[in-house]
Amino acid sequence: MAHERLREPARSPGQLRDLDLPHAAQSAGERDWHDGRVVTPDRSDGPLVLGIETSCDETGVGIVRGHTLLADTVASSVEEHARFGGVVPEVASRAHLEAMVPTLERACETAGIRPGDVDAVAVTSGPGLAGALLVGVAAAKALALALGKPLYGVNHLAAHVAVDQLEHGALPDPCLALLVSGGHSSLLRIDDVTGHDDGVHLLGATIDDAAGEAFDKVARVLGLPFPGGPHVDRAAREGGSITIDFPRGLTGRRDLERHRFDFSFSGLKTAVARWVEARERSGEPVPVADVAASFQEAVCDVLVRKALDAATSNGIEDLLVGGGVAANSRLRAMATERATARGVRVRVPRPGLCTDNGAMVAALGVEMVARGRTPSSLDLPADSSQPVTTVLV
Ligand code: KG4
Ligand code: ZN
Repeated sequence: MAHERLREPARSPGQLRDLDLPHAAQSAGERDWHDGRVVTPDRSDGPLVLGIETSCDETGVGIVRGHTLLADTVASSVEEHARFGGVVPEVASRAHLEAMVPTLERACETAGIRPGDVDAVAVTSGPGLAGALLVGVAAAKALALALGKPLYGVNHLAAHVAVDQLEHGALPDPCLALLVSGGHSSLLRIDDVTGHDDGVHLLGATIDDAAGEAFDKVARVLGLPFPGGPHVDRAAREGGSITIDFPRGLTGRRDLERHRFDFSFSGLKTAVARWVEARERSGEPVPVADVAASFQEAVCDVLVRKALDAATSNGIEDLLVGGGVAANSRLRAMATERATARGVRVRVPRPGLCTDNGAMVAALGVEMVARGRTPSSLDLPADSSQPVTTVLV
């Protein structure tokens, strides 16, 4: 939902073919669209894969050839959830159903391909909301069956890693991935992003709230709209000072013995809520931008500290930051600054590729095809709690 979106009157499909901006958008009914045509298709540059993403509130269809992004179309239902302060699964599933066919058509049009041109169809099989995942999986099965193309059911989290190839080329081997989204915060050693032969190895994860979840909950405490991450980021950037020393979870000596590469953000979230409540009780105004900046600093500090510790202690020289929270401006800057000081190279996809989209699924699908992985069967299930280490189902 952090994609750049413009509200414009609906255009005819004929006009859309002339789209030449890297990011353009159109409103279609109640839904917002984000589109990106990045370069002219190159027919000789690796497998052509269509990827479908429906794990949460974005209906994403991406089309990728090799490491080249041809289309990245996203229809989001985020505005339908905003008044509830969180994603409503039933509403998300219904929105995916309505958006699926138009999003597919539009992505093909943007990429200048016909569905039958693709070498494979990839889809997020999990983790995510069960009903939402099912819509994407059913659509991908129908497409693969009708076109007679291989189907790959892939892990959403590994796709957040693979998407960086569209921007920075082949992944370094090995690389340390800091994966931070609304549902997950993990440190992964990536030897093979397709997961083959323990290629995605979990070093640590959150023991309570995910980083994005903490951003969303703190935003709510501060009276900022849902989803909160981008709003906290903006409030902190536009006038916030780091004036409050909020706790850094699982960084004490004792905690590090058991949870060196794990995260905990629930104590931080509670500390922010208590701080704000105390202010309100005393009748003083809440300095929203300062609280946002101080909270954000605490989250980023722990994420970057642990990611660099994991990289250096595992002898890994490349750090990749992915997932929706990787769109955060402070996290991007801090990771780059501190990693450079430690001699670690950093890769972070551009913000529009960090939040959920179909291009990331297509990028992982390309790897599956290129590395000759066995396609999924047509009875592929949607798995709402698919482990991060199970990359291909
Ligand atoms: O990866 P993602 O789009 O969806 C999931 O897989 O969960 O991540 C969504 C999360 C939300 O919690 C959202 O608030 C957070 O990413 N997010 C951000 C920013 N943009 C999105 N958090 C902090 N700063 C941002 N700029
Ligand atoms: Zn995600």
